[in-house]
Amino acid sequence: MAAKLMHAVQYDSYGGGAAGLKHVEVPIPAPKKNEVLLKLEAASLNPVDWKIQKGELRPLFPRKFPQIPVTDVAGEVVEVGQGAKKFKVGDKVVVLLSHFSGGGLAEFAVTTERLMVARPPEVSAAEGACLPVAGLTAHQALTHCAGIKLDGTGQNKNILITAASGGVGHYAVQLAKLGNTHVTATCGARNIELVKSLGADEVLDYKTEDGAALKSPSGRKYDFVINCAKGIPWSTFEPSLSAKGKVIDIAPTTSSFATFVVKKLTFSKKQLVPLLMIPKGGKLECLVSLVKEKKLKAVIDSTHSLSQAEDAWIKSIEGHATGKIILEL
Ligand SMILES: NC(=O)c1ccc[n+]([C@@H]2O[C@H](COP(=O)([O-])OP(=O)(O)OC[C@H]3O[C@@H](n4cnc5c(N)ncnc54)[C@H](OP(=O)(O)O)[C@@H]3O)[C@@H](O)[C@H]2O)c1
Repeated sequence: MAAKLMHAVQYDSYGGGAAGLKHVEVPIPAPKKNEVLLKLEAASLNPVDWKIQKGELRPLFPRKFPQIPVTDVAGEVVEVGQGAKKFKVGDKVVVLLSHFSGGGLAEFAVTTERLMVARPPEVSAAEGACLPVAGLTAHQALTHCAGIKLDGTGQNKNILITAASGGVGHYAVQLAKLGNTHVTATCGARNIELVKSLGADEVLDYKTEDGAALKSPSGRKYDFVINCAKGIPWSTFEPSLSAKGKVIDIAPTTSSFATFVVKKLTFSKKQLVPLLMIPKGGKLECLVSLVKEKKLKAVIDSTHSLSQAEDAWIKSIEGHATGKIILEL
């Protein structure tokens, strides 16, 4: 019997940007051992999705062509493979699909249950799909790297969050405020009021002189910088750091890695730490709960249908999204 087909968007080789995306009809995947099949409801884009297509993470990702990209999804369990035990048919879930296989730009996807968490009715499919990569990165930077306690019981720290209007930055501002820190944020002029509304105590336009210098308007020195912007040199961060200040760099360049090594080898009190997000299901569960409790919200830049996937792709590549770019599936 012929397999049932689904609509999907995929690419066949490195490069090509939005023009490299192809709309195809492919068989609905069957869940293997320990996997479930999801009917997808929403997906969100992250810069890493098009960076993988560009070949920036080769030879690790993707594992094979053609590749259906995108990892951050929300959907409903429609079939449970042998050995999968945590979820049952009909459960609504939020999932971080594997970066090796992707699969999010499609009507259906298979996944293991490792990075899959329940989505309560108070959290919409779009809100859920916004969370995985961006939310987990902000969470890891603040709690693991900066030691911030999200229940607000830790020491008061001064934190700078750059590109606070972006996918990671807008979550970082809100999580840092739950941790009772003083937040200075940078973004473009058009997003200053939005970033203030997310809780930032002071906001700098990154295109002004003081903004480019990351200078706190209240004269604070930063204990931690969560750097979500590309290309800010160490010489700009250094004068704004407290005596033992650290830059947690989520967008590291070759020169950031060089700074990391030099600062380590010279036992510098001021440090730069490149961050690679390591996903954990428990943390994703924590983020979903915060959204449910209305302590964390998703800012949605734009919503696209699967047939408009190219528009969403271009928007992400351009680098000017305010919050998250969503696809309704
Ligand atoms: N290491 C990891 O594991 C990890 C995980 C997640 C993300 N990342 C990386 O982190 C970076 C940020 O990700 P994202 O999802 O937040 O990106 P994003 O949503 O595409 O960020 C776009 C936003 O950044 C703002 N922006 C750009 N340059 C800025 C600057 N110099 N100063 C202040 N704001 C600036 C833009 O504002 P305007 O429109 O006003 O310019 C826009 O609102 C990306 O490079 C991504 O690949 C790394």
